[in-house]
Amino acid sequence: MPSPQLAVVRTDADHIPYLEELALRLQLPLLTAGEVAQREELDFLLCLEGGHLALLQAGPKAPGPVLVDFGGGRMRQRRRGGQNELLGRAVGVGRREQLGVLDATAGLGRDSYVLADLGCKVLLCERHPVVAALLDSGIRQASVSEDTWLAATAARMSLEAADARTLAAARLSGIQVIYLDPMFPHRGKSAAVKKEMAVFQQLLGVPEDESDSEALLHWALAQPVARVVVKRPLKAAPLGGLNPSHAIRGKAVRFDVHVLAGLDSDVLHGGSGAAGVS
Ligand SMILES: C[S@@+](CC[C@H](N)C(=O)[O-])C[C@H]1O[C@@H](n2cnc3c(N)ncnc32)[C@H](O)[C@@H]1O
Repeated sequence: MPSPQLAVVRTDADHIPYLEELALRLQLPLLTAGEVAQREELDFLLCLEGGHLALLQAGPKAPGPVLVDFGGGRMRQRRRGGQNELLGRAVGVGRREQLGVLDATAGLGRDSYVLADLGCKVLLCERHPVVAALLDSGIRQASVSEDTWLAATAARMSLEAADARTLAAARLSGIQVIYLDPMFPHRGKSAAVKKEMAVFQQLLGVPEDESDSEALLHWALAQPVARVVVKRPLKAAPLGGLNPSHAIRGKAVRFDVHVLAGLDSDVLHGGSGAAGVS
């Protein structure tokens, strides 16, 4: 599949320096709306919508924009959802004063936000530069919000736009849990995919198999942390055939928990990868 063609749109006169810096950083053309109309080859546009960086699919029948708005209605709804309690239990919220979590597959940051909302200090790692730019914009907007709870939650989130496996060891100090939510391989075209996810899949591609995710799990298990938690579809086999210590099941997803050390201990394992192979 050829790589999608993107451009940054010079929409908002107040934010030209930001858009220029973004286009330079992502090595994308910066175009006016008139120029965009002439460029039929474009698949995606990055523009500002109400202060948030948004990703739009080009073309007349394109779905709505994808953006990261932690203060928006959908995120507020998600904060109240039952799955959050399961995620909190899986990482071990409440088992230590403030848990440090590395979300090694941050995506649009929804799980990270839930964890930060539950009081965790979250390091978000996202390797796709466009997705990382959406996240960065979302965290910045939330951190200057007049909603003090939202701003305090955003203050517990920091972002690394990189492959998690390239993080310097020092970046992992203070991290007790690594959380993984890798993309699940394609299950055929008939699967009902939400519009936002469809845009996401077109940008990132859908993995053919789980070899990349398995490599990430092996990396995570070798780090000096107390737990590695993997989000899985409810009925999927454990990632990489590695049996977790236990699993927490929800209605649609499951959290596989690999326990490597006690969360209250500061002496963490040396990275032996304690999970068993099924
Ligand atoms: C399914 S999405 C995660 C969704 C996320 N949990 C949320 O709540 O929005 C998976 C993301 O992980 C990223 N990713 C996959 N492997 C990665 C790695 N080794 N390092 C950093 N990011 C990675 C992908 O680019 C993608 O954006």
